[in-house]
Amino acid sequence: MKSRPNAFSTQVIHAGEQGCQADNAIFPPIYTSSTFVKRNLDDKPDFAYGRVGNPTRHAYESCIAELEGGSGAVACASGMAATAMVMELLPKDSHVIVMSGVYGGTFRLLEDYRSHSSGITASYVDLNDLNAVAAAWRENTRLIWIETPTNPLLQLVDLAPIAKFAKSKAILSCVDNTFCSPWNQRPLGYGVDLVMHSASKYIGGHSDLIGGVVVAADAQLAGRLKKIAMALGGVQGPFDCYLALRGVKTLDVRMERQCANALQLARWLQTCPLVEQVFYPGLASHPQFALCQQQMRTGGAVVSIKISADRQQINRFVESLSLFLLADSLGGVESMINHSSSMSHCSLTAEQKEAMGISENLLRLSVGLEQVEDLIADLEQAFGSIR
Ligand SMILES: Cc1ncc(COP(=O)(O)O)c(C=O)c1O
Repeated sequence: MKSRPNAFSTQVIHAGEQGCQADNAIFPPIYTSSTFVKRNLDDKPDFAYGRVGNPTRHAYESCIAELEGGSGAVACASGMAATAMVMELLPKDSHVIVMSGVYGGTFRLLEDYRSHSSGITASYVDLNDLNAVAAAWRENTRLIWIETPTNPLLQLVDLAPIAKFAKSKAILSCVDNTFCSPWNQRPLGYGVDLVMHSASKYIGGHSDLIGGVVVAADAQLAGRLKKIAMALGGVQGPFDCYLALRGVKTLDVRMERQCANALQLARWLQTCPLVEQVFYPGLASHPQFALCQQQMRTGGAVVSIKISADRQQINRFVESLSLFLLADSLGGVESMINHSSSMSHCSLTAEQKEAMGISENLLRLSVGLEQVEDLIADLEQAFGSIR
């Protein structure tokens, strides 16, 4: 009999239904079979057809569901496929209240696609301003889309009051938990209905897969998501589910080290003359430091900075780096740097970027597993190249 709940570091190894159906393998095998054989017309095996269910996918989904404290999960082909699946829960012509400064891809989905195909409209508000949220609410509001911390400016949303507001209006709430992973933040514990991840980031953790996952707090919602996944078909393939589950096994140790590196780096960046501003919720100078301490385990592994440099100098800066790799993604074991204005947020207009604070001199650092002194030395010599 269990005397106490398992720690997260234990859960990442054993969570979910990872027991192998064949050969007592210690790690769930990659089941490539697209279809499964029935013994007779009355046979109802657990798995029948790969789009509907696959044992490797099931092992991964059940693991993530448990890590997030949910009732069920659906693994999708990408983070955006996961977001699109959540939108499918909404009736036609729904209105969604969205955290301002949300990930550019989510903004694009809502503005350029969902608005045409499903008649979804969205209002972008600071979800920490409950008066603004109440003012944005309409009769047809069906979902609050929360991203915390936001990408790339690392603003947080206080989850408990916003989940309470959603419940009072009997509407859904969903957190994009990509930047935290369940290691750093578990939104369902605050009364939120759904959690979504781009598993391409910390869950996979090795920059070698594209994937998304949605976790539902209650079984009924999880059941609806599974039906939607079956109908839409954008589920994750068994090879990528295997990679994602393999990544999860080391999530605890990776996050611990990456977040510790990020904190040390953020503190150092505050002392750099060419750094105008450091965005990191784990710093006492961050306006939501208290909320970070209450809601997150650490400030995370992403640090954003604004530096005193023009575009030409920023180009020289990123070219001078040898460990920080200029890349679109984040969350891997290797450190990466991103120029939000020309990369992650390039599809926004100049006005939209300005409204969101995405300036030309903003850089997002995804801090990896390298020795932090090496990372600091790398940045130091790159600053030297533009001094
Ligand atoms: C916060 C956030 N949500 C969602 C996504 C989309 O995920 P994917 O690229 O796996 O579709 C990303 C990708 O960068 C992201 O950063």
